[in-house]
Amino acid sequence: MIMGFKLLPEVFWGAGSLKQLADVLRNIKAEYVLVVTDQGIVKAGIADKVISVAKEVCSRTEIFDQIEPDPKDTTVAACAAKYKNDRPDAIVAVGGGSCMDFGKAVNVLLYNDGTIQDYKNQWDAIPNLTGTLVTIPTTAGTGSELTDFAVISDTSTQQKVNLIGKSVVATQAIVDPELTVGLPAGITAATGMDALTHAIESYACKTPNDLSDMLSLKAVSLIYNNLKTCVVDDPTNIEARSAVMMGSMLAGCSFANALLGLVHGIAHPLGAVWHVPHGVANAFGLPYVLEYEIPSEGERIINVGRAMGLTKEDLQPEDVITAIKELMKEIHIPMMSEYGVKEEDLDRLADLAMQEMGYICNPVQPSKEELVEILKKMYVRA
Ligand SMILES: NC(=O)c1ccc[n+]([C@@H]2O[C@H](COP(=O)([O-])OP(=O)(O)OC[C@H]3O[C@@H](n4cnc5c(N)ncnc54)[C@H](O)[C@@H]3O)[C@@H](O)[C@H]2O)c1
Ligand SMILES: [Fe+2]
Repeated sequence: MIMGFKLLPEVFWGAGSLKQLADVLRNIKAEYVLVVTDQGIVKAGIADKVISVAKEVCSRTEIFDQIEPDPKDTTVAACAAKYKNDRPDAIVAVGGGSCMDFGKAVNVLLYNDGTIQDYKNQWDAIPNLTGTLVTIPTTAGTGSELTDFAVISDTSTQQKVNLIGKSVVATQAIVDPELTVGLPAGITAATGMDALTHAIESYACKTPNDLSDMLSLKAVSLIYNNLKTCVVDDPTNIEARSAVMMGSMLAGCSFANALLGLVHGIAHPLGAVWHVPHGVANAFGLPYVLEYEIPSEGERIINVGRAMGLTKEDLQPEDVITAIKELMKEIHIPMMSEYGVKEEDLDRLADLAMQEMGYICNPVQPSKEELVEILKKMYVRA
């Protein structure tokens, strides 16, 4: 069998690795750096830390700190327009998936003509390679630090769209679990469920391979066995934070190759239209999409359970799904209704989800009626 596998940016990993940013900037002789981030990261004091390391090397540092959750195409365009004729030597994107995706998209527009709409949802459609982009995740997380995707909100259609390909990927990723220690419990829970969804969806998917399987199952083990510690028991435990962050990164590497499925297909419209945070939206769908997939993915779901550490002799897919629901309860994942989603919205949600790449890439495609049934179970958390 011939297998292609993308190993994406150069990665610096570990508690305290933020200081590597100085070497990264020194090696490319950067004098002028643009830091892109959001207000939460500024308030947490992380933006200042990043800028102080950048200043060891660069004589000019600029900051753009107006990124919104699920970044909008219009904000990307405004930032790119501001810096297009005064292009920095490097962009440093620090924050959760929203900030990293924003940095990727701005990098694309700094080195290419046109708009996000010109390149959306097409593989390798972006003509020019881009400049140095360092991603520094502060959630664990999206895995965006090393994927070749950027998810941007298209304000003209209220849809989340993807930029995809070599021009999108960061040149370096600095993955420092210390940056997640102050993450509030709700965001830790949500982003951890996003990472767990990446790990499971990239394993029970249409196009897995031996390498992605290894990464996915290791990620499942690290995330499932440490997330509750990070959210509830001991949020400043650096070993648990490191484990979940490693899991998130491995899951990102896996899904960049094996792709995702219907859980993300449902989560994207929940984010774009109802503004449900991405990780929470994935948590809503994960157990119920797995339930639907038991006939085709049952064996794989059992393997996921083994990776979670479930030791029951005659382990069934249903036991694995119950354990995931239990974790969701323990880390206080909210209900759909808490985000203003109404039962009568589920029909429209089904229509929107069926237009998503995640629906098309799923190992089995439910009919509209079946999808509405899945959504109804999600809604009441049956
Ligand atoms: N490109 C990819 O491969 C990929 C994969 C999955 C998800 N995504 C996208 O990523 C986005 C979601 O990213 P996210 O879940 O990381 O959330 P986010 O980036 O939207 O951040 C959520 C909130 O957490 C705050 N925050 C982040 N880190 C913090 C810290 N250490 N301390 C205090 N506050 C902190 C932020 O300020 C923000 O208010 C979505 O748009 C989703 O579609 C992209
Ligand atoms: Fe995700």
